[in-house]
Amino acid sequence: MSIKHVLVVDDEPDICELLEITLQRMGIETTSTTRVRGAMDLLGKRSFDLCLTDMRMPDGDGLELVQHIQQHCPNLPVAVITAHGSVDTAVNALKLGAFDFVTKPVNLGMLRRLIDSALRLGNTGVSGETLEDSAGPGEEGPLLGRSEAMEQLRAKTARLARSQAPVMILGESGSGKELVAREIHRLGPRADQPFIPVNCGAIPSELMESEFFGHCKGAFTGAVQNKVGLFREAHGGTLFLDEIAELPIALQVKLLRALQERAIKPVGSAREESVDVRILSATHKDLAAEVDSGHFRQDLFYRLNVVELRVPPLRERPEDIEPLARHILLQIAARWGLPGLSLEPSALARLAEHHFPGNVRELENILERAAVMVDGPVIDVDALDFPERGTAQRQAALAINDSVGLDDQLADQERAALEAALAKTGGNRTAAARLLGLSFRQLRYRLKKLGID
Ligand SMILES: Nc1ncnc2c1ncn2[C@@H]1O[C@H](COP(=O)(O)OP(=O)(O)OP(=O)(O)O)[C@@H](O)[C@H]1O
Ligand SMILES: [Mg+2]
Repeated sequence: MSIKHVLVVDDEPDICELLEITLQRMGIETTSTTRVRGAMDLLGKRSFDLCLTDMRMPDGDGLELVQHIQQHCPNLPVAVITAHGSVDTAVNALKLGAFDFVTKPVNLGMLRRLIDSALRLGNTGVSGETLEDSAGPGEEGPLLGRSEAMEQLRAKTARLARSQAPVMILGESGSGKELVAREIHRLGPRADQPFIPVNCGAIPSELMESEFFGHCKGAFTGAVQNKVGLFREAHGGTLFLDEIAELPIALQVKLLRALQERAIKPVGSAREESVDVRILSATHKDLAAEVDSGHFRQDLFYRLNVVELRVPPLRERPEDIEPLARHILLQIAARWGLPGLSLEPSALARLAEHHFPGNVRELENILERAAVMVDGPVIDVDALDFPERGTAQRQAALAINDSVGLDDQLADQERAALEAALAKTGGNRTAAARLLGLSFRQLRYRLKKLGID
């Protein structure tokens, strides 16, 4: 591996020296300058693997340099060094494309980790261009779709993967937010480190602090052992905060602190531990409105929402339906051990007209049900069953009137019928299916759905 070369830009000779010594101890060469102009000249003369720049220099500021680098050397990671407390400037730098930031006084452990991940980024050999090329229509990345919107989303995802900026992923339910988060992680320098998803709506509020930050043995009743929190589990990697709008206010305060300090304190511990995680969050709610109504802290919102990424709903990109459907049918066939499944043109046309309130996940469900309905390998339009609009509300109303909802009542009856048929045939599924007037595949699907399988 070739020796790396880092450009250091800072007008304080002491800081320059500290940075140089740290880098040299890591086996990295350095060139330093105290002026923005000087840095721009050097960048024109030779190539570097990383630029570390201060914010305020006599002849200009670090943000100008970040912009210059984005324009002239877009593949060069640049990190800024900011005075403690001036997070706004750091956030602006991230928005302009900086890779990451460190605050003064510089914590050397943190600085080393930043340098490591920035240089690893270069090591992957992925330049901006190849990343965008590889996201082209011919490639089978996990984010499928041939619409213009999807092309742009793939390109943005690849670009954001190279930065450490917190990203807020917005989009309707089932549109692919988690998949996008996984892509940002997979394409970035933390790819070989953990990706830890956490559904903020699914953790009971009294357990949240300990889930996030861990706890010490004996910290509270029931804390019989030390527990490692999600932040520590994600150390070196990415923490994906899903359904972020559901985070209770008390925890929002603690999360903000952890992000500001890049350190956590397990419940019952007196000691802070530094952690290095990249934060990605997602919500299907309008988070700015949650801020206005006082349900979400504005300062945390700004912290998490440094870069915003919107995943468009499926109905706005109907061209994506066909490639997605093809891919989903391949997956279903593989799961069920079938040679293949395909869509009749009329079925595809019908899908193209659908509104998809549940987005890609709804498409998956429709195709899965259709695959059960047909006996051969071709799905025709009759096999497609669209959840009627308003059905959900009607069922909810029923569920309120009777204590047992319609779905549950039907499921109970279905379960009883299936169990009776299996008992009658001594567990022979082929015979049970015949008895019930179902195809074998339909029977298997229902058994699985009801958990009898
Ligand atoms: N562009 C895509 N290419 C391939 N698969 C996709 C794409 N978008 C979504 N999917 C698939 O659709 C399903 C739903 O996606 P995902 O879980 O990422 O959605 P989400 O926005 O996080 O949904 P929710 O708001 O319900 O949590 C997943 O199985 C995912 O793999
Ligand atoms: Mg999700």
